[in-house]
Amino acid sequence: MGKLTARQRILELLDNDSFHEYDLFVEHGVHDFGMDKKVLYGDGVITGTGTIFGAPVCIYAQDFTVAGGSLGLMHARKITKIMDHALKMKMPIIGINDSGGARIQEGVASLAGYGEIFYRNTIASGIIPQLSVILGPCAGGAVYSPALTDFVFVVENISKMFITGPNVIKTVLGEDISMEDLGGAKVHAEITGNAHFYAQSEAECFEQIKKLISFIPWSNKQKAEKIEPKEPAFDKRIEDIIPSDAKEPYDVRDIIKSVVDDSDFFEIQELFAGNIVIGFGRMNGETVGFVANQPMVLAGVLDCDSSDKAARFIRFCDSFNIPIITFEDMPGYLPGVDQEHAGVIRHGAKVLYAYSEATVPKITVILRKAYGGGYIAMNSRHLGADFMFAWPSAEIAVMGPEGAANIIFRKEIMEAEDQNAMRQEKVKEYIEKFANPYVAASKGYIDSVIEPTETRTLLLHALEVSKNKEEIRPEKKHGLPPF
Ligand code: HXC
Repeated sequence: MGKLTARQRILELLDNDSFHEYDLFVEHGVHDFGMDKKVLYGDGVITGTGTIFGAPVCIYAQDFTVAGGSLGLMHARKITKIMDHALKMKMPIIGINDSGGARIQEGVASLAGYGEIFYRNTIASGIIPQLSVILGPCAGGAVYSPALTDFVFVVENISKMFITGPNVIKTVLGEDISMEDLGGAKVHAEITGNAHFYAQSEAECFEQIKKLISFIPWSNKQKAEKIEPKEPAFDKRIEDIIPSDAKEPYDVRDIIKSVVDDSDFFEIQELFAGNIVIGFGRMNGETVGFVANQPMVLAGVLDCDSSDKAARFIRFCDSFNIPIITFEDMPGYLPGVDQEHAGVIRHGAKVLYAYSEATVPKITVILRKAYGGGYIAMNSRHLGADFMFAWPSAEIAVMGPEGAANIIFRKEIMEAEDQNAMRQEKVKEYIEKFANPYVAASKGYIDSVIEPTETRTLLLHALEVSKNKEEIRPEKKHGLPPF
């Protein structure tokens, strides 16, 4: 299947000769179900420390060749020990998961082991980056720890994630489904959103992990490492990217590539909820998180999935001292019974919460449409944006010109001899009056109306003058985001 062994995986991922293993001689000590006759090398998991591009990391890799990588008590103890070490020493933890879940022969002891891992995942959340790599059929408890971590990596054909496997589904529901269709790599990269990075091979996956580690800090006490800045090297002119017809889509990633150092944009959850684009890039050599509506997919609206995707990323950036740049072009939240019943109120509120809560530097550039709830949600001044820029093409209004004219000029249109001509005239009137950035700028909601070509310069300046940003919030135990 192209699977490496657990030890090969660690050695491939880490810098040469940097791996130091712990707890090689740990034994399970279980006697039931013939376990006393089974030698389980390292109790099915390899743990230790090493470096990636010189950055220290803690790592563990479950070994499927030893009792299916199943998690017994000592296996869990090895993992919690290395997690404790990562938290104490303030370094990222990488878990390579390849496990059939709780070791059945050890009963409640293995369930306890999972509970202790989940507890540590939660305590460490927001303090050290936690990465999960799914490199085998992961079932039961083996998928809940990854779900509590910050980034999940999957590989085509190799990764499977599910709570209850095909056998249980067959028994309980009488349905036949393959492991791949139930929880294969594509399923989690495209449909569930559980996976953040999708690769064709383990080698490609390890390159993604290394690149991510290069973008993020070792802990919330630090900033990501600064590298030598490089000017963008993008072949399109930024002022030519947005089509002159406001209804025409374009790829917002082109805007990001036009402003980011070396045009190097590292996208996250590329295959999930494509109506929003998230990822890391560098500005003047320092890591920045980008959040951008994607007009090419559903006109860039916010819906349940894109709200979840954006909100979680914003919270990661905020936890780890990474400034956020938002590019906005969207007509609002997605209307419809499906979305309402799927909970777009609850999910959409996560974006409002995440932006409002974030205290890292927050900069917004309104490229084109900023209608209604979308205007507020996408890091508006009212949610605490530090800098608000708008291109001259920006349209900031309660809703699109057609819809607005039909409502507020309904009487005039109905009574006109030529209703179409009257409608066109009123739409034009509305566009001139409201669908521009100047009304918002006149109220101070927008700081500057800028030319597209000025964007990188102004973003660099905004980041430079935000370096010492401090925002004190009222003390509380924790907030209650709309989970
Ligand atoms: C003990 C296990 C095991 C387990 C696999 N093995 N899972 N041993 N406990 N949970 C062993 C098998 O007995 C076998 O041993 C070897 O690992 C390889 O397994 P196979 O079944 O031959 O491999 P494969 O066909 O690839 O199937 C992999 C699998 C399947 C899909 C993961 O093994 C499976 O369904 N396992 C059980 C999954 C599960 O239901 N786990 C949930 C546990 S409950 P030998 O000696 O023959 O090589 C749980 C609760 C946590 O995790 C809840 C948290 C909230």
